[in-house]
Amino acid sequence: MDWGMDNRVARMFPPATGRSVMLAVDHGYFMGPTRHLEDPKATIAPLLPYADAVAVTRGVLRTSIDPASRTAILLRVSGGATILKEDLSDEAITTSMRDALRLNVSAVALSVFVGSPHEHQSLTNLATLVNAGEDAGMPVMAITAVGKELEKRDARYLALACRVSAEIGARLVKTYYCEGFSKVVEGCPVPIVVAGGPKLDSEEAALELARNAIDEGAKGIDMGRNIWQSPRPVAMLKALRAIVHDGASVRDALALLPPEKAASKARAPSVAA
Ligand code: 5RP
Repeated sequence: MDWGMDNRVARMFPPATGRSVMLAVDHGYFMGPTRHLEDPKATIAPLLPYADAVAVTRGVLRTSIDPASRTAILLRVSGGATILKEDLSDEAITTSMRDALRLNVSAVALSVFVGSPHEHQSLTNLATLVNAGEDAGMPVMAITAVGKELEKRDARYLALACRVSAEIGARLVKTYYCEGFSKVVEGCPVPIVVAGGPKLDSEEAALELARNAIDEGAKGIDMGRNIWQSPRPVAMLKALRAIVHDGASVRDALALLPPEKAASKARAPSVAA
């Protein structure tokens, strides 16, 4: 037994269900001040108590998250490219394991770009991070396919990316829901959580995505834009919790959302596009 590693995983995946609702707010590391995440502290604070874990960079962790929070931290440690570049795959490890330990995080996360110009670099970055993580008792999450790689959102591609990540030693994998998702889960020997991707047309669609992903074997969600770009983010997060932890149907989860008009009045207007 590796107590430190297991303890960190259990902080993110509460043992009562073994599943996790992770709040993804790490988009700024390559997208800048994304809509409704212009002021990370303001966006994150009301949501934090309802997330099992929050995915952030160290910059946002230090500036925008109360150190007294009990929510587990999933620290993004890859970066080096922005949306101004054609190729987002040219990433490096940006944060040392020493800093991750000092920040007392529960896991570190890095993107892998299978099939991209920097496939080799991102996979060897993963190997380097896993070597450091195994030494430190720190779980590593591989994040498959962000940005343009999302165009390849099909089961064969995602199964390849997830399996390769697990083979290199990732303890957890984050990927995207797709048709035939259960094949992705079957081929991956470590737990998978799903991202939401860009804001969907409705909250119902995002809840459906979560329901289907869990039914097909995901161990949780790591969702961002479909929560904090919703007109009622806290209610949306609670509805997702009901799906992930309580087995709620999409219909039952939808019933937890307050009327949209009342919710959007309460929300401060956004300044960025
Ligand atoms: C950004 C990420 C996000 O954490 C991931 O895409 C989940 O967020 P969303 O649900 O908004 O897609 O890796 O780099």
